[in-house]
Amino acid sequence: MSNYSVVIEGRVDDKVVRVPWCVTPGSKIDKKYIGTSPKIKNVLKSYWKLVENNITFIRIHGAPVDQITNDIDLTNKTCLITGANNGIGLEMTKCLNSNGCNVLMASRNSYAANNIIKYVVEKNDLLRFYDINLASLKSVKNCCNAILKNEQKIDMVILNAGVFGLPWTLTEDGLETTFQVNYLSQIYLLMNIEKLLTPDARVIFVSSESHRNVNWTLHNTLAPTEDLVSLPKNKYTSIKAYNISKLCGILAMHYLGYRWLNTGKAVFCAHPGTFVKTSLCRNWWIYETLYTLMKPFAKSISQAASTPIYCAISPDLKGLSALYYKDCQRCEESDLAKDLHLSFRMHDLTQDILRERVKFIDDSVNMVLKSSGLQDQPKEIINDNLVSNYTGQIQ
Ligand SMILES: NC(=O)c1ccc[n+]([C@@H]2O[C@H](COP(=O)([O-])OP(=O)(O)OC[C@H]3O[C@@H](n4cnc5c(N)ncnc54)[C@H](OP(=O)(O)O)[C@@H]3O)[C@@H](O)[C@H]2O)c1
Repeated sequence: MSNYSVVIEGRVDDKVVRVPWCVTPGSKIDKKYIGTSPKIKNVLKSYWKLVENNITFIRIHGAPVDQITNDIDLTNKTCLITGANNGIGLEMTKCLNSNGCNVLMASRNSYAANNIIKYVVEKNDLLRFYDINLASLKSVKNCCNAILKNEQKIDMVILNAGVFGLPWTLTEDGLETTFQVNYLSQIYLLMNIEKLLTPDARVIFVSSESHRNVNWTLHNTLAPTEDLVSLPKNKYTSIKAYNISKLCGILAMHYLGYRWLNTGKAVFCAHPGTFVKTSLCRNWWIYETLYTLMKPFAKSISQAASTPIYCAISPDLKGLSALYYKDCQRCEESDLAKDLHLSFRMHDLTQDILRERVKFIDDSVNMVLKSSGLQDQPKEIINDNLVSNYTGQIQ
């Protein structure tokens, strides 16, 4: 597992060197620095080595997104991106578009999306806008209906839209807004369009390292309740709500990883970077200021788009699924996030919350249950069976 988040790339004698910071460039990675907090002395030593070695090119934080798509043919591929009109979502949209990929922009801002289609991208015939407000399940459903009506297939889905730093508010569905926008509505979207996914489709949750800060007590019988994920006002802080929503995304990845086992479909979580200056913090001036101050030291938006795009298209990930990535590298998620029992309990809760609000039956889950003869069993037996099947197959 690599724990570093800053990468220095350089060219020594025509050879690209890519190392985590505080490791001597051009030499083997010194393992004693990996997973430790970098010491300023070591960082300076690394930079000095770069200068000494006649490095012609230094890039901190890894490749910009266009280098990830280099040499990958995306013609005739279709990618659905939520929150595609802004920040990291827009960067991914532009990059995929310039590589010949059809992009379905699922956004709530039709004015911005239409301007992007008209003026920003190179191949505007490859972009299609779908109106979606993730704070409304009805809007999500309408968006899905439009996608199902107009599209033949989807090869990649990037669940990117997100909010942070909101004061406590409830959506029209009676749920805490951060939870619904960042997690629930995007799962609902995915469930509704699942039938359009190609046999080798990839789904990417744009995640965050902040999922590590959720401190629910972990034990196998933990059954999350609605109050735990859709925080009531007296338990709410916007940071807590954001962290929980990102944890839920990773748990959903594990559930889907099971559900799509041996199908060819894959699902990944990608942390784009930390302190990336986008509009994410627009709702909270303290964080807006912090992100502005950190901008010189953080990834550019293009670099932040690299990991989700890497997960969506890279041939390196063929045959893999249900993994968490950062800096285009496999990274361990938190213990809570990789708890399979919890991921199934969270799926149950998600279904319950949705069922209560929309007349919704997840046909595909019922199909899985039917084929395994479990449909008439109590929920606990179903879950235990599904989990033990899963662990049995990945060992
Ligand atoms: N920036 C970072 O440092 C960072 C770090 C870790 C993870 N992330 C994750 O990266 C993803 C992209 O964030 P970003 O930094 O690019 O932020 P951003 O620029 O604010 O983009 C967020 C996108 O989500 C859309 N969105 C928000 N609420 C919506 C709603 N109710 N319905 C439909 N769309 C909605 C926004 O649309 P509007 O433009 O219409 O508001 C925007 O397109 C998020 O999931 C975020 O959690 C970011």
